[in-house]
Amino acid sequence: MVLITTLTSISTLIACVSAAPWKHSSRYATHRVRQLSDKTLESYHPATTYKTFGPGVASPLKKRGESGTLEENAASFIKEELNVSADGFRIRSSASTDAGGHVWAQQLVNGIPVSNAVVNVAFNKADNVVAFGANFGGSSLAPAQIAPPTPSISKEAAITSAEQSLQGKHNGWPPSLEYYVQPSGNLALSYVVEVLTADGDHWYEAFVNALDGTVLGTNDFVAGDSYRAVDPRVNDITKGYKLFENPADVFSSPNGWHTLNGTASTDTSGNNVITYKGDLSQTTQQSADGRVFDYPYDLTLDPTAQINVKAAAVNTFFISNTIHDINYRYGFTEKTFNFQDDNFDKGGQGNDRILISTQDGSGTNNANFATPADGRNGRMRMYVWTQSTPKRDGDLSNDIIAHEQTHGTTNRMTGGGTGRCLQTTESGGMGEGWSDAFADWLVHTDASTPDFVLSPWASNKTFGLRTHPYSTNSTTNPLIYSNIAQLSKVHRIGEVWANILHNVYAELVNNFGWAADAFTNADSNAGNVVFLRNFMDGLLLQPCNPTFLQARDAWIQADQNRYKGAHVCSIWKAFASRGMGVGATSTFVDSFVVPKECQVSGTTSTETGASTTTVESSTSNSTSEPTVVPTNTE
Ligand SMILES: *[C@@H]1O[C@H](CO)[C@@H](O)[C@H](O)[C@H]1NC(C)=O
Ligand SMILES: *[C@@H]1O[C@H](CO)[C@@H](O)[C@H](O)[C@H]1NC(C)=O
Ligand SMILES: *[C@@H]1O[C@H](CO)[C@@H](O)[C@H](O)[C@H]1NC(C)=O
Ligand SMILES: *[C@@H]1O[C@H](CO)[C@@H](O)[C@H](O)[C@H]1NC(C)=O
Ligand SMILES: *[C@@H]1O[C@H](CO)[C@@H](O)[C@H](O)[C@H]1NC(C)=O
Ligand SMILES: [Zn+2]
Repeated sequence: MVLITTLTSISTLIACVSAAPWKHSSRYATHRVRQLSDKTLESYHPATTYKTFGPGVASPLKKRGESGTLEENAASFIKEELNVSADGFRIRSSASTDAGGHVWAQQLVNGIPVSNAVVNVAFNKADNVVAFGANFGGSSLAPAQIAPPTPSISKEAAITSAEQSLQGKHNGWPPSLEYYVQPSGNLALSYVVEVLTADGDHWYEAFVNALDGTVLGTNDFVAGDSYRAVDPRVNDITKGYKLFENPADVFSSPNGWHTLNGTASTDTSGNNVITYKGDLSQTTQQSADGRVFDYPYDLTLDPTAQINVKAAAVNTFFISNTIHDINYRYGFTEKTFNFQDDNFDKGGQGNDRILISTQDGSGTNNANFATPADGRNGRMRMYVWTQSTPKRDGDLSNDIIAHEQTHGTTNRMTGGGTGRCLQTTESGGMGEGWSDAFADWLVHTDASTPDFVLSPWASNKTFGLRTHPYSTNSTTNPLIYSNIAQLSKVHRIGEVWANILHNVYAELVNNFGWAADAFTNADSNAGNVVFLRNFMDGLLLQPCNPTFLQARDAWIQADQNRYKGAHVCSIWKAFASRGMGVGATSTFVDSFVVPKECQVSGTTSTETGASTTTVESSTSNSTSEPTVVPTNTE
């Protein structure tokens, strides 16, 4: 397709040097590929030449002994350096600091600015030029042809084209006309149209060809780190794996995921977490400039294949940071003993980001998390799973990462950040349960509450690591409170707790709805939001080494505190359905009774005498210890 119909040759502004064929890596300096859901879009920025001048050189103006402003000095230097006349550029901006002056200019052609052809000139205190950068005139690719300065499509048509192409909405900013240098060197006349995407992740400036409406390139005002990773809303790599752009939530991570001590890393390390294989120096570097981490995991290869090692570090980094950001919104912050190196003077102890050892060599078919007191690093060890060929990598199983990281959350938030308050069998059992329940919370995409199975992929087992799916159906999962009397292993006790919480979640979502934006909005009244709020608030409210009943009471209290008790009857109903009603005792005697104020008169749905027997008898034989591999916490 011919994009530019009428062309005039130009050789005055830009020296015509024949373009060398691209070396692939050289494109990183000049191109940017943006991934849209249905296509990729490439943008071009002509190569910049850059010179520095040590002690500095005088501008022509200064050499002539004339005095001039910073801008006049810069203009005289640009004219000489690029052999352009005054109408070949315009000064865009300038700034003076205690170290010198700076001037930025933009190329003009036919009086129209060239969007991606810019110049910067820097001066020292003695007004001598110390640095000069330009991507017009000195560029290796010269614009051979220039489109005429009059558009042939309307602004409205350009807006429509940009909106369709970028899947967003024009933000109302008036489109302007600019030339856009294409990789061929040709100058296309373009409308500059600003488009916002609905998710707020992108604020594009689109350059729409003013002759035929095609989108020639984009800038994105939202800095776009990108990671190829497992969707946080699914269990594992087989359910959803894609490139995520700019996922950091700046509410929770104000300097993003990579900046620490004022420096932005280009590897899998940052303020909240560092992921590595072997030792801390073995992080994974970006795959392309601009913190692109695009290493597609190859499921046909062993986890130890190079690409898979890198993919593992990227996914654990991505998911662990995502969980940090979600948890932060729901109250696991600096003040409440979270894991961050820099606490931004907001309270708590810093220097304790999570260290994640991927494909850790100390074990297989498991994972674990160590939680020392606030101010010392959390340590997560992720293992390879050997129950399939090729082996499977727990690092690509988000539910395992979520389970492990939640040990950090619950151990820190219970008992004031000491890491000492989920140590009894009963509270340690709930620790396992909260970890499964948080993994369960993440994976919803609508208001339904399907059964949840922990890690079926990594373990290559239909029921994953637990004896039953978590379910609202008491045939599918018959576990009730009294079962723990026969249980001694924390993971089995945890199943009882996690299943109760699964039912609390279902009850809240059924009654109060489900919000799609729950990862980044903890203030709506949707059931899934209320669930995680009470979950987290309850951790702070409960005593050190809580019992099941104390943790239940903390949930109820949490709802009183934050929501004036608006959801307590839903919560009671779910607890009671699994034996933790008002009459339940600390010796694990079930009660299926909700408090008086929650009993719906005229119905028997919350009355319990009969159902007690039924449920108990259906479950009293489901308590033998299974041969499942537990997911530990150390
Ligand atoms: C500078 O540009 C003029 C035309 O604008 C041209 O005649 C001259 O040769 C150029 N000088 C250099 C050094 O390229
Ligand atoms: C960041 O700075 C703090 C304080 O100077 C220091 O203790 C810490 O080790 C630094 N972290 C990194 C990763 O350099
Ligand atoms: C999963 O395990 C079953 C046996 O339990 C085995 O037959 C199957 O081959 C395994 N899957 C893979 C991909 O290895
Ligand atoms: C519960 O699960 C059982 C067994 O899968 C099934 O037969 C039954 O219909 C389910 N009950 C409900 C209410 O879905
Ligand atoms: C079932 O549970 C009851 C009560 O706990 C016990 O007496 C009985 O032996 C169990 N039956 C089997 C088959 O395990
Ligand atoms: Zn665990």
